[in-house]
Amino acid sequence: MAVRCRPDQAELVLAELTVLAPGGVEESHGTGFVEYAIYGAEGELPDLGQVEAATGDGLVAVDSSEVPADWSERWRAFHRPLEVVAAEGGTAIWLRPPWEPRRDDALEVVIDPGQAFGTGAHPTTRLSLELLLGLYDEPASDGVGTVRGALTDLGCGSGVLAIAAARLGFSPVTGFDHDRAAISAAIDNAAANRVEATFRRLDLRRGLPDLAPLTLANLTAPLLELVAAQIDRPGRPDRMICSGLLEGERGRVVDAFAGPGLAEREFRALEGWGALLLEAA
Ligand SMILES: C[S@@+](CC[C@H](N)C(=O)[O-])C[C@H]1O[C@@H](n2cnc3c(N)ncnc32)[C@H](O)[C@@H]1O
Repeated sequence: MAVRCRPDQAELVLAELTVLAPGGVEESHGTGFVEYAIYGAEGELPDLGQVEAATGDGLVAVDSSEVPADWSERWRAFHRPLEVVAAEGGTAIWLRPPWEPRRDDALEVVIDPGQAFGTGAHPTTRLSLELLLGLYDEPASDGVGTVRGALTDLGCGSGVLAIAAARLGFSPVTGFDHDRAAISAAIDNAAANRVEATFRRLDLRRGLPDLAPLTLANLTAPLLELVAAQIDRPGRPDRMICSGLLEGERGRVVDAFAGPGLAEREFRALEGWGALLLEAA
């Protein structure tokens, strides 16, 4: 079963679906919509009346279909390898699922998506990685080496951003997600990539962890606003990379982070999605 909604309703729909489908949902994003897939045998799928009541006209479509027998092959074909670079000539990351061949001439990150979000191919992940690589390629203020240090990843999914950061030398790296499947996939992926990173379950709506000087947050605009509202000025990160917003949501996210004193330094967009690099003003 697939439930499609407007991006501004995604948090609400996910909250309702989490209760109705405790086995978990698979999230994917398209232009102007977010889709949640729920797998289950006939008769096991939830009644969506409650979600419809909660979202009013926010649900775009609900579709039930039988999954074809070759779905796992088709799912693999969807997760393609990808090279990410901030600017021509900069450091490149080669992201690939485990079943694709390795490349010895690149900094590799191998991600098995499991049931969690992300092999890195999604525009929001890609934009986050580009901004991270941009910071990595920047000379340190003393002119020697690259700025690296502690890093927090809010909404870590399958761990792709945290693991890429650890591969680049950021340390310690800690990722948080409310989804049990995400934490378990992230821990497995960190081990497969032989990097040190810690992953913990946390619902960002219930509070924030201590934030490292560089904090990544690939979430949605409403959740980013909620995160911004919870940041104390004294404990604020020096820099944040915020992704998961739509291009048109840039203004409201920038306004939200002005509260704790973080200002826009760079904005990148891809396929209707946007990502911000924010810096302590
Ligand atoms: C867009 S995905 C990003 C995943 C990964 N960081 C990436 O870039 O591919 C957003 C993640 O945030 C998590 N998330 C959503 N709401 C959350 C909440 N209230 N608390 C913690 N994590 C949440 C989701 O489970 C999902 O893994």
